[in-house]
Amino acid sequence: MNATPSTVNVGIVGGGLMGREIAAALRRWPALIDHPAQPRLTGVADINPEALDWFRSIDTVQTFVTDYRELLADPNIDVVYIAVRHDLHEQMYIDTIRSGKHLLAEKPFGIDSAAGDAILRAIRETPDSFVRVSSEMPFFPGAQAALGYIRSGAIGRVIEARSAFLHSSDFDLAKPLNWKRQEKFNGKAGVMNDLGLHAWHVPLRLGWVPERLYAVLQNLVPFRPGPDGQPLECDTWENASVHASVKQDGYDFPITVETKRIDPGEKNTWTLTVKGLDGAVSFSTKEPKTFRVLTRETQPALGALADEQRWQSIDVGSQSVWPTVTGGIFETGFSDTILQMWAAFLAERAGSLGARFGCVTPDEAWMTHRLYDAALASHERQSVEVPNLD
Ligand SMILES: NC(=O)c1ccc[n+]([C@@H]2O[C@H](COP(=O)([O-])OP(=O)(O)OC[C@H]3O[C@@H](n4cnc5c(N)ncnc54)[C@H](O)[C@@H]3O)[C@@H](O)[C@H]2O)c1
Repeated sequence: MNATPSTVNVGIVGGGLMGREIAAALRRWPALIDHPAQPRLTGVADINPEALDWFRSIDTVQTFVTDYRELLADPNIDVVYIAVRHDLHEQMYIDTIRSGKHLLAEKPFGIDSAAGDAILRAIRETPDSFVRVSSEMPFFPGAQAALGYIRSGAIGRVIEARSAFLHSSDFDLAKPLNWKRQEKFNGKAGVMNDLGLHAWHVPLRLGWVPERLYAVLQNLVPFRPGPDGQPLECDTWENASVHASVKQDGYDFPITVETKRIDPGEKNTWTLTVKGLDGAVSFSTKEPKTFRVLTRETQPALGALADEQRWQSIDVGSQSVWPTVTGGIFETGFSDTILQMWAAFLAERAGSLGARFGCVTPDEAWMTHRLYDAALASHERQSVEVPNLD
């Protein structure tokens, strides 16, 4: 049992979709057992005063501002979570880091490589900075189980891997244009900026850094209705398939990383499959409480089929990185993964995460930009590119 948990005052910049989700997650904190930190949401900044109103029902919030710099000047705020458009990341993240606040940033960690470089520089130049980046899907208990299985070495020498983040929110071809569909706000890497970190988090954490890659990028719906219904240019990549080569223990294996905003049949699916010479493992949020393993052990009762390969489905309960009061047999949900991600973030900040799975590191997030650069170059030149990771 820990000593009394230390209070951590949190400020949110950007009270939109994700800002509200995090505020809700923090309200679920009592579900965590024996956590070293006790977060309190005390301040919110949004340029749109109406967005602030949602937070007024949260009794711990004392500060409501339209200029985020007022939050950074508040000596009572310890940690800032920022969820704004990608073109705003660089300035806000750097200001936050230099203000001495700790930061849970949103992906893609700046709009491009140059922004990622500048943010990483600010971190290195700021003593005692602590920054992590949001990516919650690997906190599903089934994903943790699959990761543990891979790390155990049970699948043997890796043959191939696939990590994909797939949805169809743009399958509605008449959906109005918003900031996520415009290069100036979302970034040149398009869907990779939007969904890429979700798909790269686990491969990079496993040390699977591509040595070379080939990418196919698609802009499937070049025009969408603007505010007055007239078509406006939609100039971002909707789908990206990246085929890469990774070296592990002296062997090369292929990894496919797909991020798609138009994948008919998919709602919001993260999936990981890794196959090896001794077996395989697979997890998909489509079946959020199940992970599957392929084994080759013999079963004499099957007679002639005794030596066949078998996929087995294993149900996992609600428990993830940090234990909760939720009943063990209950399935997890999206809010649970957000809660776990914050638990990991604040635990790591407090030095108590241990060997548990943590949030994206700045290095990992920065590296994804270099991979996107290579992917963009690969698509443009129809070539195989070597990512610049210096
Ligand atoms: N981790 C995830 O699963 C996930 C999901 C969706 C989005 N995101 C990321 O979260 C970030 C925000 O996305 P969102 O969907 O919440 O966006 P959103 O458009 O719903 O919300 C953004 C908010 O920022 C506010 N804002 C704009 N300019 C501002 C400024 N100068 N100062 C303060 N506030 C300002 C807007 O008024 C809006 O309320 C992006 O980086 C996005 O990639 C992450």
